[in-house]
Amino acid sequence: MSGRTSVSTVIEDITARGTFNSRGEETLEVDVTTVGGFGRASAPSGASKGKAEVISYPQGEVDRAIEKVADLIAPELIGRNADEQEEIDLILHEIDGTTDFRNLGGNTAFAVSLAAAEAAAVSCGMLLFEYLAGQFASELPRPLGNVVGGGQHAFGKAPDIQEFLVLPVKANSFRKAAKANALVHKKAASFLEKADETFSGGKGDEGAWTPNMKSEEVLDIMLRACDAVSEESGVECRVGLDMAASSLWREKEKCYAYPRDGVRRDSEKQMDFVSRLVEEYGLVYVEDPFHEEDFESFAELTKRVDNCLVCGDDLFVTNVKRLNHGIGLGAANSVIIKINQVGTLTDGWKTTETAQKAGYTPVMSHRSGETTDTHIAHLAIAFRCPIIKTGIVGGARVSKINELIRIEEMLGKRAKMATLP
Ligand code: PGA
Ligand code: ZN
Repeated sequence: MSGRTSVSTVIEDITARGTFNSRGEETLEVDVTTVGGFGRASAPSGASKGKAEVISYPQGEVDRAIEKVADLIAPELIGRNADEQEEIDLILHEIDGTTDFRNLGGNTAFAVSLAAAEAAAVSCGMLLFEYLAGQFASELPRPLGNVVGGGQHAFGKAPDIQEFLVLPVKANSFRKAAKANALVHKKAASFLEKADETFSGGKGDEGAWTPNMKSEEVLDIMLRACDAVSEESGVECRVGLDMAASSLWREKEKCYAYPRDGVRRDSEKQMDFVSRLVEEYGLVYVEDPFHEEDFESFAELTKRVDNCLVCGDDLFVTNVKRLNHGIGLGAANSVIIKINQVGTLTDGWKTTETAQKAGYTPVMSHRSGETTDTHIAHLAIAFRCPIIKTGIVGGARVSKINELIRIEEMLGKRAKMATLP
């Protein structure tokens, strides 16, 4: 993020309002107006949040965040240059004065930081990804899509595991990869309909199907759907999981509870279970297979499995200190990047850069509560994340997919698909 300071990037106004996310919850939207441009960004929100994430809103209220933007943030930032990203993000930290953004709210800092970046890009006559990364950024991420799910993203009888995912590992264009994901989502529905007579097309927070089924029944269907689509489309699709295991973990009993499967597993059994799933289903990606404080089990699993991304979401919460701790132990080989877990764009970039230097694969990600904001599509390219996790269906997910299709078209011959490790 280099400074191109000019008069056109001078911030003239910052305003905030309460809007709604895909779950119908209130969220924060921020507008930054510069002399020569305008940027708008809104904050997403999590349902299965990590304990070490920053605090989303002051006293849990969007209205408080709106007041903070008007009373504390706007007076400090108006008159400054929107392209001085690190400076802006530092000021947000200074105004807040805590380590977890509890005074301003992490979502407040996130929306201001991102809206400022967007305003700076527009003021410079560029798209956000070009502005942040320069003209050599031309690698499109692979879409990691949520096909079937349960856990904290669903109600009633649904699978215990939060997300059954598809990743197109071989595809020569983003559009083809996105199309393969949509076909897997559709194909899975037809298999689910046959396997579960109560299935009525119900979906969870991210548009994934929520059948009344056990984990391995769903995995069988995922494998069949991926194989069928790989064959039909020529795009090789593989299965992944987000186990969101902190939400399965029962601290008192020291075990992972799978109520739908009718099983409880202690840490050792969980290790054997996950290792077996990776082997049997050829899993290419496993996110949060253990609870958020169990770095050691993450390290052990990473050693045990081959050709599988072991990814930390609640484990790292996009926090560079937690990531460095994990790197020291060899815990995981991949990290979820959700900027609002940590606050500002600069913080998110530092974590991404640290991951890359250590050979960890960064995965740019949406949250379960989203808006149609498309910025993570740009951030995935600018931050050189080879994977974007953003769902398959529903306006809030498709908005990011469609933005990447537009970017691919705009890049023309320069467009390349990112390679996986
Ligand atoms: P979220 O989590 O509900 O906190 O957004 C989704 C995920 O675990 O990836
Ligand atoms: Zn997750």
